[in-house]
Amino acid sequence: MTASAKDRVLIFDTTLRDGEQCPGATMGLAEKLQVAELLDAMGVDIIEAGFPIASNGDFEAVAEIARRTQNAVVAGLARAISADIARAGEAVKQARRGRIHTFVSTSPIHLEHQMRKSEEEVLAIVHDTVTQARNLVDDVEWSGMDATRTPIDYLCRCVEVAIKAGATTINLPDTVGYATPDEYRAMFRAVRERVPNADKAIFSVHCHNDLGLAVANSIAGVEGGARQVECTLNGIGERAGNAALEEIVMALKVRGDVLPYETGVKSEMITRASRLVSAVTSFPVQYNKAIVGRNAFAHESGIHQDGMLKNNTTYEIMTPESVGVSKTSLVMGKHSGRNAFRDKLKTLGYSLSDNQIQDAFVRFKELADRKKEIFDEDIESLVDENLAGARDRMKVLSLLVVAGTIKEQIATLTLEIDGAQRTVQSNGNGPVDATFNAIKALAPHEAVLELYQVHAVTAGTDAQAEVSVRLMHDGRTFTGKGADPDTLVASAKAYLSALNKLLARGERLHAQAAE
Ligand code: KIV
Ligand code: ZN
Repeated sequence: MTASAKDRVLIFDTTLRDGEQCPGATMGLAEKLQVAELLDAMGVDIIEAGFPIASNGDFEAVAEIARRTQNAVVAGLARAISADIARAGEAVKQARRGRIHTFVSTSPIHLEHQMRKSEEEVLAIVHDTVTQARNLVDDVEWSGMDATRTPIDYLCRCVEVAIKAGATTINLPDTVGYATPDEYRAMFRAVRERVPNADKAIFSVHCHNDLGLAVANSIAGVEGGARQVECTLNGIGERAGNAALEEIVMALKVRGDVLPYETGVKSEMITRASRLVSAVTSFPVQYNKAIVGRNAFAHESGIHQDGMLKNNTTYEIMTPESVGVSKTSLVMGKHSGRNAFRDKLKTLGYSLSDNQIQDAFVRFKELADRKKEIFDEDIESLVDENLAGARDRMKVLSLLVVAGTIKEQIATLTLEIDGAQRTVQSNGNGPVDATFNAIKALAPHEAVLELYQVHAVTAGTDAQAEVSVRLMHDGRTFTGKGADPDTLVASAKAYLSALNKLLARGERLHAQAAE
């Protein structure tokens, strides 16, 4: 099938909104701008940049992304409340192409237990809120939350009213991840057939992954006539997450023979984008995750390796290069110069300011002094760590740990806290415990350690360790990541990265309360 015979499917990325709702995945402004820039460069059609009424930080992020984005439509989310819609309109008004995305629940369960409103009342809300949004911008998306548990007759009435009031996109989410592909496909077919003005809007899928069906359902929705897919990088999102952008894009690309649709996403940028999101959210990507997991192109068994050596189509349905995975390559050593390093960053897909390149170069030289061979993955992890921690209040300056069988484990740690150096010595039940106790002594806090995970960035005993840490505080989770050839230093960095996020949230809440 030729490309022109395929129907174009719009990719609506909601990593910065639904993805950020994932417990612990909070991002700061600088991180959101990085992600948005990459999404725009990779050809995503719509970037849902946040929920402007949720906080001043969210508003600022949406407004700044709206100002900077070159190609994509920038959307701001709004509940079916007048103040929300006005705030979303304000946030996207400087976008080249701005969208207000407003939603209201339509299912009997939500109407009865959450909204306590009748069907007629909700229909009036749909009309009024879409009309208000349409008076602010030309591009309005309306979502019927919990659409898949809404009786079809009522759903059709809501959709008709939304389109009449000016909605240009109609999104019918599987909010609780309950639908099956056949049901979801049939729902779109029915709504598009029965709603008289259905041809005036683009239909959209939005699927959650509670039963692991988000991607299958999204594709079924496209077969049912939807031409916009809402998804997130690495599938992050509420509960079990959203449909993964990389899986949707590659399923449509690889199986174009039976799925005659195309997207505008440059698939070669997928791996870079996945790593950036993992770095800024500190959410590790599961090893066997489709497309972007580190094992996605690894062949372990003898039979598979034998086949791959003879011809890689024996066991690979897409090339690693098609999603931006380069063959692990030895890149540089301690004699490599600044220009070669700058070139390398470009090849890896980074566009950094001169200051950021300089910072990364200093850290690269430090690493090269300690590690003989530096791989692409090493460079990516050091740059990503820097991007994620650019505005951290606390940093590790030095760590000395006494470990082994002879003596008790003792950590001597020096941190920079708000520009001042502080040192402490602590012991613990093992070297990691001693290190974390030292952090607690210097930065007392109530958060509880929920997860501690280590993996090696590359092969070899001198490989960098990448540590993930999850802290729980006041019912919220904060995740942190750190990388270093020394596992204990990586552990301290990861713990501090989570703690810095906790502090940053406290400051944001404080600032909002003061306002
Ligand atoms: O899952 C959902 O229903 C949503 C809506 C706000 C679109 O995220
Ligand atoms: Zn959602």
